[in-house]
Order: sequence, then structure tokens, then C-alpha cells
Amino acid sequence: MEIHAFWLAQLFFFVLWVNGLMTIGLAGAQQRIVCNESLMLQNLPGCGRSFEEMMHKVDSKKWCNLTEFILYYSNFTQCTEHEAHTAKCFWPNPLAEGFITGIHRQFFSNCTSQNVLWEDPPDRILVTLIFLPILLTIAMIGLVVWCSKRSDILV
Ligand SMILES: *[C@@H]1O[C@H](CO)[C@@H](O)[C@H](O)[C@H]1NC(C)=O
Ligand SMILES: *[C@@H]1O[C@H](CO)[C@@H](O)[C@H](O)[C@H]1NC(C)=O
Ligand SMILES: *[C@@H]1O[C@H](CO)[C@@H](O)[C@H](O)[C@H]1NC(C)=O
Repeated sequence: MEIHAFWLAQLFFFVLWVNGLMTIGLAGAQQRIVCNESLMLQNLPGCGRSFEEMMHKVDSKKWCNLTEFILYYSNFTQCTEHEAHTAKCFWPNPLAEGFITGIHRQFFSNCTSQNVLWEDPPDRILVTLIFLPILLTIAMIGLVVWCSKRSDILV
């Protein structure tokens, strides 16, 4: 009896999981069709400008030290992601990557691996940067599944 309940629970979570993946997949397929590239290209420079503003607060001698600006860089990346999604585009995508590469060239062209460019940021920041998106994704999947289940029940 207990074992059956266990497998039922497993099955239930598996169904929820597939359901969530399918919802996300459908949303993704719809996104691809209506990606407004000109809108995205129009808005990305705004991200570049705020990153530039922040970087000018950092001594340019320290522009190769990731620890000094990782939070700005993270904001910049999130900004490009936000703008891509606003234009209903996938992120990352080749156009956004081209833009980000341009920003890299502007700020990090003189950095070599010798001056310890991408040294590890402090663990706490790194952990936050890595796990926050994962947690958000899980939360989003949960929310989507919960909403779809609710409407199923109501129907
Ligand atoms: C794409 O964005 C541009 C600039 O904002 C806008 O003029 C145009 O109508 C948009 N195209 C579509 C298909 O939404
Ligand atoms: C980078 O910046 C951090 C924080 O200011 C500092 O502790 C570290 O020594 C710097 N690393 C290098 C290679 O300059
Ligand atoms: C790179 O070095 C050149 C020559 O020293 C300098 O003119 C340029 O401003 C530097 N670029 C960056 C992004 O630091």
C-alpha cells in the first residue's frame, strides 16, 4: 500500500514535470515566431550605456579584475536578457551575443589571461549568481504547473 502510494506520487510528479516542460516548450515555440529583432537591437544599447556608466565608477586600471565589477556585469547580462524577452526573443541569441561581444571589446580588449582576468569571484557571489536563476526557474515551473493544475481542476 505504502509502496503504491510512493509510485503514484512519483508518477504524479513526473506528470507535473512533463506538463511544466511542455508549457515552457510551447511558450518557447511561440516566442521564436514573433521575435522582434529590431526592437531588441533598439533596446540593447540602453543596457550597454548603464554598464558603461557603472564601469566608469571603477578605476580603469581595475577593468581586468572581475571581482571589481561582477555585479555590474551581472546586471548588464540580466538587462540584455530582459530586453531580449521584452522583444519576445530567445536569450542568448546571436544578435544579443554580437552586442555583448562588442561591449567586451570596448572594456576588456586590453585584458589578457596573464593579468588574471576571470579570476574566481568570492564564493558567496558566485553561489548567488549560479543558484538564483536555478531557484527562479524551479519556482516558475512550479507556478506554471500549479496554475495549469488549478485550471484543470476548475474545468
Ligand atoms: C518591432 O519593433 C519596432 C520598434 O519598436 C516596431 O516599430 C514594430 O512595429 C515591431 N514589429 C512587430 C512585428 O511587432
Ligand atoms: C581584484 O579586486 C579585489 C577586490 O577589490 C582584490 O581583493 C583583488 O586583490 C584584486 N585582484 C587583482 C589581481 O588585482
Ligand atoms: C587599451 O590600450 C590602449 C593603448 O594603451 C588605450 O588607448 C585604450 O584606451 C585601452 N583600452 C581599454 C579598453 O582599456
